[in-house]
Amino acid sequence: MKPSVLSWRHALALCLFVTPLLGLAANLPFRPVATSASGMIGDQIAIFVPEGLDPAHLPHSFALLKSPTIAEPLTSTWADQPSFTCSGPEFRATFTVNKDVDLYGGGEVTGPLRRNGTLVRLWNTDNYTYAKDSGSRLYQSHPWIMGVRRDGSSFGLLFDSTWKAEMTCAETITYTTQGPAFPVIVIERPTPQGVLQALADLTGHMPLPPRWALGYQQCRYSYEPDSRVREIAETFRQKRIPCDVIWMDIDYMDGYRIFTFDGKKFPSPKALNDDLHRLGFKAVWMIDPGVKRDPGYKVFDSGTQADVWVKNSEGQTFVGSVWPGPCVFPDFTRPETRSWWSGLYRDFMAQGIDGVWNDMNEPAVFDTPDWTMPEDNWHRGGGELVPGPHRRYHNVYGMLMVAATREGILKANPDKRPFVLTRANFLGGQRYAATWTGDNASREEHIPLSIPMSLTLGLSGQPFNGPDIGGFADFAAPDVWSRWIGLGAFYPFSRGHGVKGSNDKEPWAFGEKVEKTARVALERRYRLIPYLYTVFRQTSVTGLPVMRPVFLADPKDVSLRGEDSAFTLGPDLLVVPRWAPSPRLPRGDWPEITLVEGDLQDPDQPSLRIRPGSIVALGRVVQNTTEESLDPLTLLVCPDGNGRASGDLYEDDGDGFSYQKGNYLLTTYQAETKNGQVVVTVKSTEGQRPRPVRKTVIVVVGPRATSSTESTGL
Ligand code: GLC
Repeated sequence: MKPSVLSWRHALALCLFVTPLLGLAANLPFRPVATSASGMIGDQIAIFVPEGLDPAHLPHSFALLKSPTIAEPLTSTWADQPSFTCSGPEFRATFTVNKDVDLYGGGEVTGPLRRNGTLVRLWNTDNYTYAKDSGSRLYQSHPWIMGVRRDGSSFGLLFDSTWKAEMTCAETITYTTQGPAFPVIVIERPTPQGVLQALADLTGHMPLPPRWALGYQQCRYSYEPDSRVREIAETFRQKRIPCDVIWMDIDYMDGYRIFTFDGKKFPSPKALNDDLHRLGFKAVWMIDPGVKRDPGYKVFDSGTQADVWVKNSEGQTFVGSVWPGPCVFPDFTRPETRSWWSGLYRDFMAQGIDGVWNDMNEPAVFDTPDWTMPEDNWHRGGGELVPGPHRRYHNVYGMLMVAATREGILKANPDKRPFVLTRANFLGGQRYAATWTGDNASREEHIPLSIPMSLTLGLSGQPFNGPDIGGFADFAAPDVWSRWIGLGAFYPFSRGHGVKGSNDKEPWAFGEKVEKTARVALERRYRLIPYLYTVFRQTSVTGLPVMRPVFLADPKDVSLRGEDSAFTLGPDLLVVPRWAPSPRLPRGDWPEITLVEGDLQDPDQPSLRIRPGSIVALGRVVQNTTEESLDPLTLLVCPDGNGRASGDLYEDDGDGFSYQKGNYLLTTYQAETKNGQVVVTVKSTEGQRPRPVRKTVIVVVGPRATSSTESTGL
């Protein structure tokens, strides 16, 4: 069955051009606004500040790590400059680019990887099956676009505003907010990699996650009661299908009251988590922002006492319905609210919880026309944040929530790396949480759709992301689920999920054939964990995505610019779904590799290829990441035309922070071919962690042959 890749693209394109822009003042002319200040805020990074803003006192930036200061005047040859206009309550930055510039980014969006000719609405939206506005507004906002010119040189545009906005990506890029003037930051670099690194330096790097978060994860809305959770966990182990995490969705709660447990269905969350830990699983539990309006419920009472709730335009506590019925919502713009919220996690984490899932934090509100709180609701701010309407803070509501969550779980478990998954977020939010792409559907066309979505998030600063594998909404057909798990082994965040009322969506729920495909897919992922963990470590340092569009492998090759079925994982592995319609691949002979028996024969397993000149570290197949997988260590060596190769392996405790004090080992291996023999040596090491005594299997792969030898001391 061929996926109908073209159909969603056509549908999207059609919608964009027949739907008038939302919320733009009807036909009022935009009048010019002068640029009052501009200058360099870093190496080849400029800021443009429109009239009306004081460059020395810019509004608080949520995206940027620190407030930008103009260090030098604009470089005399600086070409790329935005212009500013306004119309009534709307403010616009416009940027003109050559027709042949390829545009990327824009955050969490549906549609093709190459964003030319698209429109993104920046208004975090609970968007079930991506149906609203054809997916042009989703759960997150990233006011960011990257352009790649014909010669591979690149630029990035950061529109530093949180207000409700729309961004058109074409020869004329416009960013129009329903809010006041904002600065624009322009990054210039010789390569797109350089732009992405600069973006991470400006907006923050993803912190290194615990290694277990790279394993496969199983979720369901909801596994209940606790015996069902145990059954799922035990089945993974019995069937020897690798998995690291089981997820608890809302039904564990007592009447959907956050930070509570249903006494009947989950009488002892601690005992459940202990059992999961004994089986080698971690447990992630959900927390939503809506707090049931229920006097006598301790979270409601303590929040009311601390006066933390968002107000309506009349100054009354806003009440809106979510899962528990009428709810009140923490005003995360207030420092007092954030510290109250952080504090709630102490007792919660003490139940043996390993990670937190923050959902519905756009915030979703069921009983309002636009499914969120009214735009004129009032946030009181505090600290660096001025008071303001919801229209100003809506897009950062989720980001502020996960910042406080992360702080809370770090305080509760200071020796562990926090893991938070969020649905809503904003540019820079990779500092606090990983993300998944919300409520997709078990539809064939959502499989190819997920690839540019994940790639685009990676090009927008958020490397740790992935969709619900198998699709969340609807019944999943076995062939759809099977194809999806084959691909799903290669998302940075790899989690299967399914909506209440749909069929079971575990690897074994579709019969033996699909179960086998799932086992092979996940065994492939687990063999790759040492490489993946090394890539995650590099990402946390450089800001380059984990899952990368193929054009990053050769930014000068314009034929790769639109490819969004094939992708690379880190720099060295190319993933090519076997259903990909004529994928454009980077030049050079990237030989296909096999990782586990049966992976080459199964059409649902993407073809995996290795970059000539690289060395990729593999582990053994294990059932979860707490098992030692590196004895033996396997080094896949793919010599280039000169018989040489090199590659890194990063090792540490897998959790905790001792790596920050030197307890890690980063090995750079090199291979040379002498007299027809490939010899691998340690080229350099970093860190103080001793090299484990282990056997190493060296597998040399080339376009024609594969050979294998053993070694020690690596
Ligand atoms: C939302 C989430 C989904 C979750 C459900 C119930 O729809 O996106 O993942 O399962 O709420 O909590």
